Formats: sequence, structure tokens, C-alpha cells
Amino acid sequence: MKIITVANQKGGCGKTTTAINLAACLGKKEQRVLLLDLDPQGHSSLGFGVFNEDARDLYDVLTGEIKLEDIILPNVFTGVDVAPATKMLAAAEHLPVRSDERDIQLEKHLASIRERYDYIVIDCPPSMGLLCFNALTAADLVLIPIEMSLFGMHGIDRMYEIIHQLGERHGRDIPIRVLPTLVDSRTRLCRQFLHEVGERFADDVLSVMVQFTVRLKEAVRQGVPIIAYDPTSTVAVQYDRLANELMSALQENVVAVGKTEAESESEARPRLTAMKRVFEGARSRLGGHGGKQKVVLRIYDFAGRDVKLAGSFNDWRPDQGVVTRTENGIVEKIVMLMPGAYEYRLIVDGVWQEDPSNPEQVSNYSGGFNSVLQVEEEHETAGA
Ligand SMILES: Nc1ncnc2c1ncn2[C@@H]1O[C@H](COP(=O)(O)OP(=O)(O)OP(=O)(O)O)[C@@H](O)[C@H]1O
Ligand SMILES: [Mg+2]
Repeated sequence: MKIITVANQKGGCGKTTTAINLAACLGKKEQRVLLLDLDPQGHSSLGFGVFNEDARDLYDVLTGEIKLEDIILPNVFTGVDVAPATKMLAAAEHLPVRSDERDIQLEKHLASIRERYDYIVIDCPPSMGLLCFNALTAADLVLIPIEMSLFGMHGIDRMYEIIHQLGERHGRDIPIRVLPTLVDSRTRLCRQFLHEVGERFADDVLSVMVQFTVRLKEAVRQGVPIIAYDPTSTVAVQYDRLANELMSALQENVVAVGKTEAESESEARPRLTAMKRVFEGARSRLGGHGGKQKVVLRIYDFAGRDVKLAGSFNDWRPDQGVVTRTENGIVEKIVMLMPGAYEYRLIVDGVWQEDPSNPEQVSNYSGGFNSVLQVEEEHETAGA
């Protein structure tokens, strides 16, 4: 069993949205998941449509009145159980406890349900109180969603410090992953924030990010995760990739065996900065050729399907002038292009759509989005 704690003391950065959708994606992958709502606002319970202000919650567990398993609501979604929260939980911050047990109470209660789950996802409140300390101490991995806005990075250094101190106190390393959220990469400001996140948190930044979309708000209002509300949306694919990335990050923590030769080799090479990895799906320049550059577009998640590429560089004629290669489950589209910005779309099994691996998109003024490909000048580095 692995515990993923979703935390950031900044309010409204997408913790709950991430916890709900991550839990749902893990559940869909046949993992047994518990979503533990630690926020007295009860938003995780609300997002799965199971909020009840009279429900018993972790407060009653921490007072010793009932067991953790007694508050669990089973099967609220495929593979997902929820331990709900109500405003009573706020009182847990003030419960008398032995000082040496203050931040390990939750860990002790979770031990009793270890065998029942593959993953426990904890949604933290937007404050660094006792509940949050407990959730961080119990974590096998802390996921920090960072909103791509002016104050989004405020307080993150302090969080890093606290997590390291808790890890030290309990004699272990608590890995951290940073997830850019509410990403609107059409704005220059957002691209600057993304760059800054990449520079500051480097390899802790996940290669997936979650774009800003009203579909997520609509899904919450319906009390369902995005993979049920709009399973083919870009953001559903992004949360699915988040689940994959975290599953493999947590697996690597346990055993560092079973890597392919190519993977071990790539680890030996200097790593790309996080920012470059973020945009790996969008572009990868391999070399010049008479002013044109060979551009490899890596498209994830579509191996085994018919994928064509059309864009402003080939008059929107599917696959004209494009070489296709499939490697390690990734579809590669290779084109020769002059430096500049291009718009493109993918045609997957005959259906036109944007590239889910690429967060850079612009409206195509007919109700959808075109993905944006930037081919940089040769003296600049871009991608792998
Ligand atoms: N990617 C997104 N695109 C658009 N809206 C989003 C996105 N992620 C979250 N939101 C919306 O932003 C608001 C805050 O999100 P959420 O509740 O997940 O944040 P939070 O960090 O859990 O907040 P709190 O600190 O209050 O617990 C919600 O209305 C949610 O629907
Ligand atoms: Mg929340």
C-alpha cells in the first residue's frame, strides 16, 4: 500500500480536484483506492457526490470512538472508497495528544487498513496544521499541485522544508512531486510561471500538467470525476498520465530493478531540466537540414491506433510530408520544418483532436483547440 498526500497550504490550487481525479484514474486501473478527505470543507466527499454533514469522520476515529474502517464509504466509484470529512474534523486540530505522537496518529490508524488498499490518496486542507503534518508524515510521496498564477509558488519552499524536517525526524526520505495546475499556456505569463517552476523544482516537476478547463468544474458539480464526465477530454488524459507517472515513481522507490537498458542509459545522461521535459510532448529537435530542422513530435497514449498529423505546415493534409514511427508505445511523427510557430491537430482513428501530450494550445475558433508546435532556432536547445 502506498500513500499519496496531496498538499499545499495555498488555497484553491487544485488539491481536491487532483485528489478526486487521481483516485478515480487509479481505481480505473484496477487499483484498490481509498480517498481520505482531511479537509473539514469536505470537498473531496462532495466531488464524489457523497457529502453528508451528519457523517462520522476522522475526528471520531482520532478520539478513539470508532475505527477508521467504520467511516469508509465503499465503492463510490470504480475501485474507489471514500473516507469523508465534515466540519467536525476541524476540532481534531485541538485534540489532546502525547507530544511524541502528535504527527504519527494518522499513520497508526492507516496501518489497520493497509491490506485493503493499493493506494491511499489524502486530500489536505489549505493550512499547515496538525492534520496536514500527520498526512505528510504518513506519505510515501507528497504531491504538491501548484497553480500557475502570481502567488502560486508562494510558501512552497517552506513546505519543502517542513517535509524534509518531518522525514528527518522519522528517519526516511519523503519524495515530493510538483504538478502544475490551472495551466493556460496560451498566456505568456503562464508560460513564464511554468518556466520558473521548472527552474526551481527541477526533477521534482512531473512531466504531466493539468490545464485550465471549465469541464473540471462541471464534473465536480455533477459529483463525478472527469474520466466519467468527459473521458476523452484532454484533462482526463492528463489525469490518467498523472496516475501512470505516480505509479511508476512509487514503484521505483521500492525496487530499482527491471529497468530496460535504454532507461538505465538515459539516467546516466545529464537530465533535461524539468521545463524541457514538460514540453517533451510538443517538440524535439534533432538536427538542421538546409535551414529546415528535423522535428520529432512524440505523442503518448495512442500506440496501436491510427494516428495522423495535420497542421499549418502541410496545408492541414493528414500525414502529408510526415514520417511515422512507433517506439516503446510512443507514436513519433517526423517532419522537416523551418523555425517558427505552427498549429496542428491529430487525427486519431479518423477523429480530429488536439495533442493531449502538448499543453500549448490555441482556440481554432470553431469550438475546439489547435495544438501549438514551436520550432526553435538552431542555437537554442529544445527537447531531448
Ligand atoms: N484545472 C482546472 N481548471 C479549471 N478549474 C479548476 C481546475 N482545477 C481546479 N479548478 C477549480 O478551482 C477551484 C479550486 O480547486 P480545488 O478545490 O481543487 O482546490 P483546493 O486546492 O483543493 O482548494 P482548497 O485549498 O480550498 O482546499 C474549484 O472551483 C475547482 O473546480
Ligand atoms: Mg480542497
